[in-house]
Amino acid sequence: MLTSRQKFIVVGVALGLAAALALAISVAAGNEAGQNPDDQLAQAADAAEAPRRGCTACHIAGGIDADGKYSLLWEAQERTAAGGEGKQHPAALPGGAPLNFQSGVADCLQCHKPGVDDQVGKGAFAPLSLRDIVHPAHLFSTPFNEEYHGGCFSCHNVANDGTWELLSQKVNANEKGVPSKRPIPGALRPSETW
Ligand code: HEC
Ligand code: HEC
Ligand code: HEC
Repeated sequence: MLTSRQKFIVVGVALGLAAALALAISVAAGNEAGQNPDDQLAQAADAAEAPRRGCTACHIAGGIDADGKYSLLWEAQERTAAGGEGKQHPAALPGGAPLNFQSGVADCLQCHKPGVDDQVGKGAFAPLSLRDIVHPAHLFSTPFNEEYHGGCFSCHNVANDGTWELLSQKVNANEKGVPSKRPIPGALRPSETW
């Protein structure tokens, strides 16, 4: 059995193969038209996918199936279940409204923002702050690095005043990742200032 993460990679590889096939076809077509295949390959390599910025650029709101796969709540449920038999992630916000597969990172931060007093070093209403979870989980991840070429700016913008903003929504950006709108829609100030 493949784990869900391996399936994620298999789908990525399948998409890569489809792209390679399309490239082979276009290279063949180029040959007929008398173009140099090496030039065409170099062009295709340059025309990389636009960098994905903002949580929902990768964790699509609602997820990709009925289980909400790859939505933020699905990630929370999956990682909590991996922590031990019978473990379940909370299903509601502190105010009582239910979490769902559309929930955004601002919802997550209600509990996973940095804690104070007896929660110092932890999340406000959770054992871990979101920054302590997502920094290592992404920066040491093979798919994040190799498939998405991810980095700090997948999730952040450094604002004019030097603040590390969090990109809660998929950012419309050009092929270099440069945002098309300023201020960036969905860019959040650090949760400890809310
Ligand atoms: C460029 C794509 C991308 C972006 C943008 C992204 N993620 Fe992820 N995220 C991933 C991938 C890939 C994984 C799976 C990592 C693995 O298992 O190797 C992941 C895993 C996670 C997990 C599971 C953590 C764990 O312990 O395994 C959480 C939670 C998460 N992301 C939250 C977020 C949040 C919040 C944001 C926005 C601030 C975000 N992600 C932005 C790609 C992305
Ligand atoms: C009501 C408060 C609350 C909200 C809202 C919340 N969480 Fe959690 N989260 C927790 C608690 C408490 C745990 C610990 C659960 C356990 O281990 O029994 C946890 C655990 C996790 C874990 C597992 C961390 C690990 O590696 O042990 C991840 C990942 C996570 N949450 C991500 C999220 C994301 C993403 C969201 C937004 C969709 C979110 N959480 C919303 C309270 C919350
Ligand atoms: C997967 C998304 C993701 C990636 C990638 C990521 N961060 Fe973050 N970062 C977060 C989240 C979520 C927080 C917590 C935001 C909050 O609590 O408001 C955070 C918080 C921070 C903060 C604290 C900001 C403040 O003023 O409180 C700094 C600094 C930071 N990140 C730096 C980095 C650097 C440097 C990198 C690259 C090496 C990086 N981050 C990569 C998601 C990410």
